[in-house]
Amino acid sequence: MAEALRVGIAGLGTVGASVARVLHDKAAELTRQCGRDIVVAAVSARDPKRDRGVDLNAAKWFDDPAKMAQAAEIDVFVELIGGDEGPAFAAVKTALEAGRHVVTANKALLAKHGVALAEIAEKKGVLLNYEAAVAGGIPVIKTMREAMAGNSVTRVFGILNGTCNYILTRMEAEGISFDACLKDAQRLGYAEADPTFDIEGHDTAHKLSILTSLAFGTKIAANDIYMEGISNITQADIRAAGDLGYRIKLLGVAQRTESGIEQRVHPTMVPTASVIAQVHGVVNAVAIETDILGELLLSGPGAGGNATASAVIGDIADIAKSRPGFQHGPVFGRPAKELKPYKKAQMRSHAGGYFIRLTVHDRIGVFAAIAKRMADNDISLESIVQHAISGEAAAQKTVILVTHETTEAAVRKAVDGITKDGHLTDKPQVIRIERAG
Ligand SMILES: NC(=O)c1ccc[n+]([C@@H]2O[C@H](COP(=O)([O-])OP(=O)(O)OC[C@H]3O[C@@H](n4cnc5c(N)ncnc54)[C@H](OP(=O)(O)O)[C@@H]3O)[C@@H](O)[C@H]2O)c1
Repeated sequence: MAEALRVGIAGLGTVGASVARVLHDKAAELTRQCGRDIVVAAVSARDPKRDRGVDLNAAKWFDDPAKMAQAAEIDVFVELIGGDEGPAFAAVKTALEAGRHVVTANKALLAKHGVALAEIAEKKGVLLNYEAAVAGGIPVIKTMREAMAGNSVTRVFGILNGTCNYILTRMEAEGISFDACLKDAQRLGYAEADPTFDIEGHDTAHKLSILTSLAFGTKIAANDIYMEGISNITQADIRAAGDLGYRIKLLGVAQRTESGIEQRVHPTMVPTASVIAQVHGVVNAVAIETDILGELLLSGPGAGGNATASAVIGDIADIAKSRPGFQHGPVFGRPAKELKPYKKAQMRSHAGGYFIRLTVHDRIGVFAAIAKRMADNDISLESIVQHAISGEAAAQKTVILVTHETTEAAVRKAVDGITKDGHLTDKPQVIRIERAG
C-alpha cells in the first residue's frame, strides 16, 4: 500500500474537531476508498488543553499554524480557523509556498485572496481544495469544476445562507416578525450574536463570488456584488407574496448578460411551485443553468460540524487518491493566470419582473397617479391591487404592483416619481422576481 497521507489540521472548532473525529471513526473505510491511510499527524489551535472530543495525542501540537504549514510532518494543510487575513491567510500562503496541498472551508479568505492563492498552488503543482467554503456539505464545487466540463453556464443562483433561510421560513410558517425570528434563531444557535454578516448578505456574497469565478472564468470580485439583506422584509411582504403565488428567499444570483456579469444578493420572489421555493429552514440550495445540461439543483445541509466535515474529508480523500506527478486541474476550473477581469453589469440595467408594495394616503387620484408613473416609464403591469388598512391606519391603503419584465432603472425612476408625488406614508418596498423552474 502507498504511504499514509499525513494531514495537519489548523483550527479544532466546530468544523476542525468534526473533521478529526470523522477521520478517526472512518479510518478503515477511508483507507479502503483511497488505497492508503489518512492520518492526523499535526494539529494547531489556540488552546492546547481543550477537550476536542477525539484523541489527538498522536498528533504533534503547533501553537503557530504557519509553522505547522511548512512542517516536514505533513503532506496536507487543512485550514479551519476562519477569517480573510491573519493566521488563516498567513498559514495557507506558507503551506502552498512550501509545496503542501491545502484544504480550506474559508469562503472569506477565498473571496479576498482566492486568485492569488490559486496562482501559487498552480505554480507549485499542489491542490487547493475548498468544497466546504460554498454551501457546506453540498458538493457544488466538484460538480461545477469536474462534472460539468464542456458546459457553458448562463446563470448560477442559490440559497447560500442557512440563517436567512431559517428566518424567512419561520416568518412565513408562523406569521411572526423578522425581529422575533432573529431573536429565536440566536437563542437556538442558528444566528450569531452579531448577525449582520449573515442577514445583510455578506456571507452569501462571499460564496457567490466563488461560484461566479467558477461559472464564468472571471477573477473573483466579491466587492462588486450588489447587496441587500432581509432585515426590511415584513409580514405584509410575505403575505402578499403568498397571495400572488410567490415565496421570498434571499438569493445570490450570478448571470451573464449582454452588458457584463450580474452578481447580486437580495430578497427575491420565486414561484411557490419552483423547486428552490421548497428549500426550507437552514438547508442550502444551488441551481446551475447551462447550455448543455439545462438546470441542475443541488440542495442539502449548508453548515454544521459534520456536514461541513463531509466536504472537507472529500477534499482530503481526493488528495489521497492523487498520485505523484499527476497534473492537478486548475483551482477555479481554468488556469488562475487566464481568469478574465470581471466585467460588471450595472444593476440599473438588470431586467426582470418586480413586486412593489406602496403604503399610500387613502385619497382620490392616488391609484391613477401610480398607474401613470408606471406607464410613463414604459412599465407594463401584470397586476395592480389596492387593499384598505383597517384600525388606526384607516386613512391609508396598500397598493401592490407586479410588473412584467422591465429594467431596474425604470422601476427606480417610477418609484422615485411616486415618492415625489407625496402619496406615500411609508418607505416603498421593491422586491425583484426571479425566474426559477
Ligand atoms: N461552522 C460551520 O458550520 C461552517 C460551515 C462552512 C464553513 N465554515 C468555515 O470553516 C471555518 C471554521 O469555522 P468553525 O465554525 O469551525 O470556527 P470555530 O468553531 O470558531 O473554530 C475556529 C478554530 O480556530 C482556532 N484558532 C483561532 N485562532 C487561531 C490561531 N491564531 N491559531 C490557531 N488556531 C486558531 C480556534 O482555536 P480554539 O478552539 O483553541 O479557540 C478554533 O479551534 C471558517 O472559515 C468557517 O467560515 C464553517
